[in-house]
Amino acid sequence: MNKIFGADLNPFYYLGALGFYFFWVVVISGAYIYAFYKTGIELSYPSVEYITNEQWYLGGVMRSLHRYASDALVMVMVLHLLREYILGRYRGARWFAWVTGVLLIWLIFAAGINGYWMVWDKLAQYSTVATVEWFDWLPIFSEPMSRSFLTQDVLNDRFFSLISFAHVTVPLFILFLLWVHIMRISHPVVNPRRGLAVGLLLALLVLSMVAPVLSQGPADMTIEPRTIRIDWFYLYIFPLLDIWSAGQVWALVIGASLLLVVLPWLPSRVNQIPVAEVSLKDCSGCRLCVADCPYEAVVMRSRSDDMHFHEEAVVIPDRCVSCGICAGACPSSNPFRSEENYVSGIEMPSLPMSGLRTAMMKDMARLKGEVRVMVFGCDNAANIEKLRSESVAVLSLPCIAMLPSSFIEYALHAHHVEGVFITGCREGDCYHRLGVLWTGKRLAAEREPRLRGRAERQRIRQFWAASADLKELGAELESFRASLLSLDKGRVPAETVALK
Ligand code: HEM
Ligand code: SF4
Ligand code: SF4
Repeated sequence: MNKIFGADLNPFYYLGALGFYFFWVVVISGAYIYAFYKTGIELSYPSVEYITNEQWYLGGVMRSLHRYASDALVMVMVLHLLREYILGRYRGARWFAWVTGVLLIWLIFAAGINGYWMVWDKLAQYSTVATVEWFDWLPIFSEPMSRSFLTQDVLNDRFFSLISFAHVTVPLFILFLLWVHIMRISHPVVNPRRGLAVGLLLALLVLSMVAPVLSQGPADMTIEPRTIRIDWFYLYIFPLLDIWSAGQVWALVIGASLLLVVLPWLPSRVNQIPVAEVSLKDCSGCRLCVADCPYEAVVMRSRSDDMHFHEEAVVIPDRCVSCGICAGACPSSNPFRSEENYVSGIEMPSLPMSGLRTAMMKDMARLKGEVRVMVFGCDNAANIEKLRSESVAVLSLPCIAMLPSSFIEYALHAHHVEGVFITGCREGDCYHRLGVLWTGKRLAAEREPRLRGRAERQRIRQFWAASADLKELGAELESFRASLLSLDKGRVPAETVALK
């Protein structure tokens, strides 16, 4: 997708945002149709027919848009779920977004299926009766609900008032749950890039013109519908009810939902590294960690010791995904500090900043050759261990934004190395959401803690690479080393200048 659309417009980087986008398209198109919709057994079908045929140029297009955007919502939701699952982003602190996501699936299907009933055509009749029979299997109703639907006479206008009320209120719950879903995420991406939004809207409009959504003939409770065209995004459960018993379908639906809900707590081979910890005596209450944490896991509270600062940072362990970005933001994570085992304001217990300095110095100390390079990378991106050589030292971090800018200055200072190469997840696809963005801004001196002016920019290169980009990463490193070589060759020693 990157090859076709570029990282900026790759829909896979915006699946959650596209979910929001399609939701809004559904709400706006739905509001238009609702203005002309009439509630009642005799009124609903003709009113939908009026919207579709008499007003085909607007009402018809809106109806089709409403349907196709709802289908697209399911599609991006399923892809979003699969992507988060495949990337392992559902465990630990992420359980909250995951479980609220599972609840969203239920609500979105409830709203979609309910929407089909509003048309009151043969498809509505088929899915209503099938749903009611399916629910009758549950031992919650004293009298089977299906009795109310078996004849045209028993079916009353109250039913239509109920379903049209539900079709407005369930999306309100969805909106509320969407807000809850991203509550623990800072700077959530809820809007896709404009190009993607416009392109997809145009695609939906073209689809609406080429294949307008039509009803399937008025419902008639005296005749069982025989041939029905089905929307496989929402209504696949009904053909399943034709081949399986209601109990079996309940077992499948409840079983699958429960499995999804407990997934974050099932045993895993991946070890969760310990969460960030604040060292109060080293914290000045500057708030940089709060600003950079992608998961709202650090908060500030009034100082609890007698130091002269107003506030102190506190980590909420249940929200922390152990990315280390906060440690990279903290001004006290500074390798120029003189103590060997210095402690920074906020630290990752598995990889303290003093340990990071020792590891970096140790690997740099073995380097040989004219062009020595220190590579910093990310555990979730291309495996930089493969770049290690006689003249290349490597250090991989939980997220590249765990690297304080001062470490780059430190590596270059006193000629430990000729250049520093920074890599991490592809742009727009940072595993910890904001790491690549913050790193880019810190290096461009647009965000604290910024890379200071004294660090020579020609000696620093950024290149973002996923595990599939190892070849390109190696080539970029070589080109960087070549540029460093020519940089140093072109440099005239100071005494030569003086003689001239
Ligand atoms: C249509 C429904 C949904 C919408 C609109 C939606 C939207 C979003 C958005 C906007 C984000 C933040 C993305 C970012 O800024 O990085 C997000 C995160 C997340 N979503 Fe959804 N979501 C939906 C359904 C689901 C479902 C069904 C699941 C899984 C069961 C799920 C699991 C997650 C997880 C685990 C995250 C956190 C990712 C992270 O921590 O990096 N979502 N969602
Ligand atoms: S490691 Fe730090 S930045 Fe990352 S989630 Fe935890 S508190 Fe936030
Ligand atoms: S960045 Fe460091 S010094 Fe600043 S509030 Fe956070 S822990 Fe304290």
